[in-house]
Amino acid sequence: MSATPSPAPRVLSGIQPSGVLHLGNYFGAIAQHIALQDRYPGEAYYFIADYHALTTLRNAEALRQNVFDAAVTYLALGLDPAKSLLFRQSDIPEVHELAWLLACVTGVGLMERSTSYKDKIAQGIKPNAGLFNYPLLMAADILIYDGTLVPVGKDQLQHVEFAQDMSTYLNEAYAAGGPPLLVRPEALLGIAPIVPGFDGRKMSKSYSNLLPLFESGKKLRKLVGQIVTDSTPLGQPLDPGTCNVYALLKLFSDEAELAQIAGWYRAGARDGQPFGYGHAKMLLADKIDAHFAPARARREHLLQHPEEVEAVLRSSAERARPIARATIDRCRRAVGLT
Ligand code: TRP
Repeated sequence: MSATPSPAPRVLSGIQPSGVLHLGNYFGAIAQHIALQDRYPGEAYYFIADYHALTTLRNAEALRQNVFDAAVTYLALGLDPAKSLLFRQSDIPEVHELAWLLACVTGVGLMERSTSYKDKIAQGIKPNAGLFNYPLLMAADILIYDGTLVPVGKDQLQHVEFAQDMSTYLNEAYAAGGPPLLVRPEALLGIAPIVPGFDGRKMSKSYSNLLPLFESGKKLRKLVGQIVTDSTPLGQPLDPGTCNVYALLKLFSDEAELAQIAGWYRAGARDGQPFGYGHAKMLLADKIDAHFAPARARREHLLQHPEEVEAVLRSSAERARPIARATIDRCRRAVGLT
């Protein structure tokens, strides 16, 4: 039997349940994921990669909490269960069976080329076999749903290429000359804007320089206050091009507003009053506060109603599972398990 890719491309991506989600996650991935549900309604599949999280997290309560937080965050920010699926990776245990079939046609040499694995080792992480096998599970995640478009950041590109290679290995081993068993996926690289953290380096959990998405009021202002700027005295001209605050303001302003803000920077003045980094920071905090206000309200509601979150995860898994089952049944027959 052949793979039966749906006529519309199916978009699919995994979400790391890594704890606090921040502005870097939002502009780098979440906003793109949510926007894609309008382009491919009914065909946007997102899952929370809890199996993958086990490669580095050994705290059951933290894992449960992170998975719940990731789901709440996506729903609060506008993921619409009428257009997208949002489910737990582990609600579809069939991915492990496919990962094993892929493991048995994939050379160790390919696995050893994984840059994210090599990076982790370089950081001094003592690798477990789960970490080494991460790309097999990720390929299975993609291939089991006949996913054709995989929105990811640059750091995940090699993993998608591995999924392409692995689909070819299985097809060549068991379906050579015939219709393919697995659909070859393509990465969809978004144009992720630069999101600097406090210190000007990329905003990242590993640098502890992040602005969490749902902070507001005084706490948010305190965090924004920590953004590093140079020591130009108040009233002197400032260079927007080298300012971390301005780089963040860009993400929340349209062209006209931005031109106006750049003007205040260069003049070191706004409406005849001195304008300095402190003012820019206030402006930024106001904008972040306002931008996420509706999402914060939806989040508060969901935190009070965890059963609504659970219902979305369940019903999405119920829709995704038959697709996974069909892929596995097809592959089991092809390799001789049934
Ligand atoms: N590895 C991805 C990340 O760290 C998460 C992920 C797991 C994923 N499975 C996936 C992404 C399948 C895309 C497709 O962000």
